[in-house]
Amino acid sequence: MTHILAIDQGTTSSRAIVFDDKMQIKATAQEEFPQHFPASGWVEHDPSDIWSTTAGTCRAAIEKAGIRAADIAAIGITNQRETTVIWDRETGQPIHNAIVWQDRRTARFCEDLRAEGFEAEITKRTGLLADPYFSGTKVRYILQTVDGALDKAKAGKLAFGTVDSFLIWKLTGGSRHVTDATNAARTMLYNIHDGQWDQTICDRFDIPMSMLPEVQDCAAEFGMARADLFGKEIPILGVAGDQQAATIGQACFEPGMMKSTYGTGCFALLNTGDTAVTSENRLLTTIAYQLNGKPTYALEGSIFIAGAVVQWLRDGLKMIREASETQPLAEAADTGQPLYLVPAFTGLGAPYWDADCRGAIFGLTRGSGPAEFARAALESVGYQTRDLLEAMTADWSGTAATLRVDGGMSASDWTMQFLADIIGAPVDRPKVLETTALGAAWLAGMKAGLYPDQKGFSDTWALDRRFEAAMDEDTRYAKYAGWKDAVRRTLSS
Ligand code: G3P
Repeated sequence: MTHILAIDQGTTSSRAIVFDDKMQIKATAQEEFPQHFPASGWVEHDPSDIWSTTAGTCRAAIEKAGIRAADIAAIGITNQRETTVIWDRETGQPIHNAIVWQDRRTARFCEDLRAEGFEAEITKRTGLLADPYFSGTKVRYILQTVDGALDKAKAGKLAFGTVDSFLIWKLTGGSRHVTDATNAARTMLYNIHDGQWDQTICDRFDIPMSMLPEVQDCAAEFGMARADLFGKEIPILGVAGDQQAATIGQACFEPGMMKSTYGTGCFALLNTGDTAVTSENRLLTTIAYQLNGKPTYALEGSIFIAGAVVQWLRDGLKMIREASETQPLAEAADTGQPLYLVPAFTGLGAPYWDADCRGAIFGLTRGSGPAEFARAALESVGYQTRDLLEAMTADWSGTAATLRVDGGMSASDWTMQFLADIIGAPVDRPKVLETTALGAAWLAGMKAGLYPDQKGFSDTWALDRRFEAAMDEDTRYAKYAGWKDAVRRTLSS
């Protein structure tokens, strides 16, 4: 048994990656699935799509790798976080579509929580803010709107899970209802200091605690994937939310190490070690990973739109056919036209947390064309990252190491150079950009005894390229000031 199967269930696609005993990728399969937008600011997934694309890509990756289930030592799962599924324990059927992390429908309830002063309780207990982003208010919404759901939940007949938990339920044929500490930390229902579901918050949200999964370490026994799925039972030994898995995959194991992942959104995590640092700058306090019963904490900055802005240029504006066209376009843009695109398509995340504002573009002239749009889109990713890093530096008294980047957009040299320029510090891109899947694979492989320990794994991290800041200070200052002004004009109040 010399392979690990990593499942990376993301916001727009499901992926399965087979790693060999040297932690090298042997095969990958990926499948996109439909996004549902039932109203403005609402985003849903059909849980059966989540499951069928996951099972399908697992089978495809195993076949492509030319191995059998008997060759797989363990499964590691990483997933889009916060997305909320509630299902009937008896039938296994979800009672509502999955409400996706980007969904803003619970914004009013979050406002109520703030108005009554409950946000401070939430932050103290969970490290999070009263924002629709997290699972708790989504769970409440489903229980309050689906006929009979609250009564069924109170009778212990319903189960709630983030996507990892739902997948484990499906993989184990309904025999395990579990999650890991990193996913639990994103629900707004989990006390990250006590390591337990929080009674006070569950009471306020009217969520029966019997519907919550058991919380385990990231490397633990999460059950056996059914034999009829892949041909033989396979143990599930690793689980982490995708941003935490990327932190692990980037080997950010020391306090002060940080990574930024560019997927649909952008998520920067700074390892703060044993200390759960409370942010003064509206960042989140979260669990980076939990091993041997010991949580390691992180400060997190979450931006909702990063790669999705390029998707919008492609699918919404139809200015490009392929994401890769943005780089040559950005290079060709007229630098004399300072265009600012604030991609607040679903509001703004950290450090602004404005659920009501929407996207805006400033500085349009008759000369503005696709090249200028592409440049503004890529630059928006750099500016937003700087917003996060400024907040992190203000919150963190220790020395922060060089930023490690990964995710689809980190492959763009132009974008990474702009990032280094605008933050005024080096940016390190590793050789392996599949850090999220690698993090999940390492957790499972380490637990299975196939992969090295934390130290041995850190030693395998290798640099592809360091981007050094090359922009002069005055230009950096002026450009960032222009961005702050554009954000100020975009915010709803
Ligand atoms: O918090 C949301 C995040 O986990 C989603 O990640 O990669 O699916 O955009 P991704």
